[in-house]
Amino acid sequence: LVSLWPRLVSLASCLFVVSSLCGPVLSLWPVSVGNMTESCPFFWPWQVSLQADGRHYCSGALIHNRWVLTAQHCKVRAKEDMVVLGVHDLGFSPSESILVDEVFNLPQDGSYPPNTDLSLVRLSVPARFNSDVSAVCVPDEEEDEDLDSSWSCVTAGWGVSRATDRLHHVGLTLVNQTTCREKWGGLVTDSHICSHPAGSISCMGDSGAPLLCRKRGSYFLFGVVTWGSRRCDADKPAVFSRISDYLCNQ
Ligand SMILES: *[C@@H]1O[C@H](CO)[C@@H](O)[C@H](O)[C@H]1NC(C)=O
Ligand SMILES: *[C@@H]1O[C@H](CO)[C@@H](O)[C@H](O)[C@H]1NC(C)=O
Repeated sequence: LVSLWPRLVSLASCLFVVSSLCGPVLSLWPVSVGNMTESCPFFWPWQVSLQADGRHYCSGALIHNRWVLTAQHCKVRAKEDMVVLGVHDLGFSPSESILVDEVFNLPQDGSYPPNTDLSLVRLSVPARFNSDVSAVCVPDEEEDEDLDSSWSCVTAGWGVSRATDRLHHVGLTLVNQTTCREKWGGLVTDSHICSHPAGSISCMGDSGAPLLCRKRGSYFLFGVVTWGSRRCDADKPAVFSRISDYLCNQ
């Protein structure tokens, strides 16, 4: 897999081949749309905290025991930053803390926000999976095409601006491209997924956090938090990078 990677990046057609060893089927736990709620500890076992000098600055999602997906604008630093796994309260020791080995980005055209705001982070050693740490499933093409407002979605994060130490999540409803473009204009492309502004993550400040959606049993990783309104504007949708163009579920 590792040696395939540069070729996959240069093709930009396939960011990563994901193994089938992904997350547990979650219970029928309801996540309500609206306000942020503190998550049960380790309920989202793929959620990681990216840290520089011991400080949380972005979230990410474990998609494999060596790989984490996050936002490119998080600017993760290889050989410096840490990926903290199996953590609920940032004030307590995590199950695992692993140095970032390397960071891979898709080619950019220099626009801001970046048009493909995704980074793939390789861990210096494999994560040890246990009940608190595991990888999230990614959807196949069929599921991605089916994604609409009938799915239940959620995002989780620690929230830089809110400075909470414990992981929180919020239920989200998706809006279509037309509705999203009415608020954001041409910044929104087919490579984005937008959620309804009510219960918006835009105030959480947790870039790189996963967008998880499910229709039936399990949650799948569909997107990564990229941008929203800085002013926490309650009528602007939150915007996620759509990962399906770059992940091949094989
Ligand atoms: C969110 O919190 C506010 C203030 O605490 C409350 O009035 C409102 O009903 C809550 N909304 C939901 C959907 O729970
Ligand atoms: C997008 O969503 C809006 C609001 O729900 C709806 O009126 C519109 O028909 C939808 N557009 C498409 C192309 O599905």
